[in-house]
Amino acid sequence: MSVALEVEDLVVSFPGVGERTPVVDGLGLRVEVGKTLALVGESGCGKSISALACLRLVPRPGRIDRGRIAVGGREILDLSVPEMRGLRGSEISMIFQEPMTSLNPVINVGGQVIEAIRLHERVSRSAARARTLDLFEQVGIPDAEARLGAYPHQLSGGLKQRVMIAMALATVPKVLIADEPTTALDVTIQAQILQLLRDLQRDSDTAILLITHDLGIVNELSDRVAVMYAGRKVEEGGRVDVLAHSRHPYTEGLLRSMPALARPGERLTEIPGVVPPPDEWPPGCRFSGRCPRALSHCPDQPPASTPLPDEHRVWCHAVAEDVAS
Ligand SMILES: Nc1ncnc2c1ncn2[C@@H]1O[C@H](COP(=O)(O)OP(=O)(O)O)[C@@H](O)[C@H]1O
Ligand SMILES: [Mg+2]
Repeated sequence: MSVALEVEDLVVSFPGVGERTPVVDGLGLRVEVGKTLALVGESGCGKSISALACLRLVPRPGRIDRGRIAVGGREILDLSVPEMRGLRGSEISMIFQEPMTSLNPVINVGGQVIEAIRLHERVSRSAARARTLDLFEQVGIPDAEARLGAYPHQLSGGLKQRVMIAMALATVPKVLIADEPTTALDVTIQAQILQLLRDLQRDSDTAILLITHDLGIVNELSDRVAVMYAGRKVEEGGRVDVLAHSRHPYTEGLLRSMPALARPGERLTEIPGVVPPPDEWPPGCRFSGRCPRALSHCPDQPPASTPLPDEHRVWCHAVAEDVAS
């Protein structure tokens, strides 16, 4: 299987109280052509910043300090700014969590999608317009023809999100990053968008990095799942291995807090406590302060990865002991 998106040892930092604080710390991800990797974890774990790094769009004063990111085998951290601009849209696109910040307020939404298409392909304006109209209908924008001429401020949050999705799909990217793509949408539209992503993947072999806290969506759409906690990956594996046979105490806590996926007979319970801010992360396992299985050395020593069958990996001292004994 060839790899569409590969991230290795990624470190992204923001200025902290003293030194810069890494908010993504040594992250590795790999999405194969035509497959979906779900990236999950509570709010503040670094999912969006990791995604933005893959397009080299980390907001200032954030900065990529280290790592390798390859899109279709090309190292993007080495590209010039114009080369990177050319890659966005054609090779890699993103559906942002905040549609407000990614639509141009002074151009009508139809025009923005038409321009995005024509920037990447030599097609007539009328052909690009026809495709835009088609996409607006597919993402469930009612009265799509009239909506082409609307400006972002004239649309509801849900409609702006659908315009964003149409824009991300318009250029048929090889890699699509979808950051909480359907959070703002009602369930009917949500189902329609998920079907659209599936169709796109089937027809174009698009690799999808799907960021969501909705494990129901993960269950429906993903091939593999990576679980992130406080800037680091804690568990990774095939969908069934992670969702049905999770090993990391954090993943188990997440699953118990999700109505869509709680195991039969289990009560829904929140993980006690909150994700600590980056400048309070312990040197060892970052989940140790909230972990029901924490051992005495967990806060001090970062856990190495414990490999399990079928490329299932867990970064946890307690699991490493289970496996060793
Ligand atoms: N513009 C910013 N300035 C400073 N810190 C930021 C900024 N954006 C994000 N962060 C920090 O980066 C961390 C990860 O954020 P983010 O990637 O948005 O998390 P997630 O998408 O998993 O909810 C957070 O702890 C947040 O405090
Ligand atoms: Mg986010």
